[in-house]
Amino acid sequence: MKDNVAVIGAGVIGGAIVKSLLKSKYDDKITATEKRQKIEKLEELEKLGATITWNNKTAAKESDIIFICVKPNAVGEVLKEISKEIEGKLVISTAATIPLEFYKKIVPKARFVRTMPNVAVLVQEAFTAYCCDSGVTSEDKRKVEKILKFMGICQEVEEKYMDALTALSGSGPAYISVIIEALMYAGLKVGLPRELSLYSSAQTVLGTGKLILETREHPAKIKDMVTTPGGTTIEGIYELEGSEIRTALMKAVEMATEKCSKFRRAWKK
Ligand SMILES: NC(=O)c1ccc[n+]([C@@H]2O[C@H](COP(=O)([O-])OP(=O)(O)OC[C@H]3O[C@@H](n4cnc5c(N)ncnc54)[C@H](OP(=O)(O)O)[C@@H]3O)[C@@H](O)[C@H]2O)c1
Repeated sequence: MKDNVAVIGAGVIGGAIVKSLLKSKYDDKITATEKRQKIEKLEELEKLGATITWNNKTAAKESDIIFICVKPNAVGEVLKEISKEIEGKLVISTAATIPLEFYKKIVPKARFVRTMPNVAVLVQEAFTAYCCDSGVTSEDKRKVEKILKFMGICQEVEEKYMDALTALSGSGPAYISVIIEALMYAGLKVGLPRELSLYSSAQTVLGTGKLILETREHPAKIKDMVTTPGGTTIEGIYELEGSEIRTALMKAVEMATEKCSKFRRAWKK
């Protein structure tokens, strides 16, 4: 059966979703929309093989699965605009903080999936958490997983975890970028050339993440594997343990989670 996909709002995340689908040689038609007539942005997607339009209704009407990738404050307006066209269809939103009940209230007859990807979707290495309204079928879930796996790793979760995951993995690339930047400056401090310092730091983060994902080992074990008694790494670890790096990261995620919860509660009103 055909599953044409529309991506409403081909910005950073929407554009990356379209590119992931095209790269993965997704069989069916992919349509991308935008609000303003920024020809170059959509034309790039058209050159790669997407159909482009500035008409959300047409895109939704001609598609079976509809992604909503506009900013949260534009979601209500877009839903009202395409409400007739999405009735009976599977709709996947990437908008942060908006609860499923908000979508259902506007279009009760559509089946909604709320996702939280991250910007690593640009390189098909996202972690995407998703939760579903009660009308989403197991066949729908199979389709959702198939599409989300083109963008990286995905996992179904209960909706109650979405605030925390928005703060942890959704915002995560920002925290990790701070860490990579700090490591790069550390390299400069000990005399490394800028590019060598940056890319060795970034690859070290990537490799450590991969090591944990593939071996399923606890990070403490990886740390142990690198630390020789009386060696060089323990000198660095000793400095880190005297700092507040752990509490700083925990507080960052805690504060971001609180902000998500505050926004989510406002959507429920
Ligand atoms: N960026 C992230 O790291 C990230 C991570 C996880 C989730 N998210 C979520 O993903 C969503 C998109 O974020 P983003 O960073 O990709 O934002 P973005 O780059 O600003 O993209 C939003 C896109 O939506 C388009 N748009 C706005 N109103 C529209 C309308 N009525 N009809 C059609 N298109 C419309 C915009 O077009 P114009 O530029 O022409 O206005 C823009 O291309 C947000 O809800 C955000 O919460 C983002």
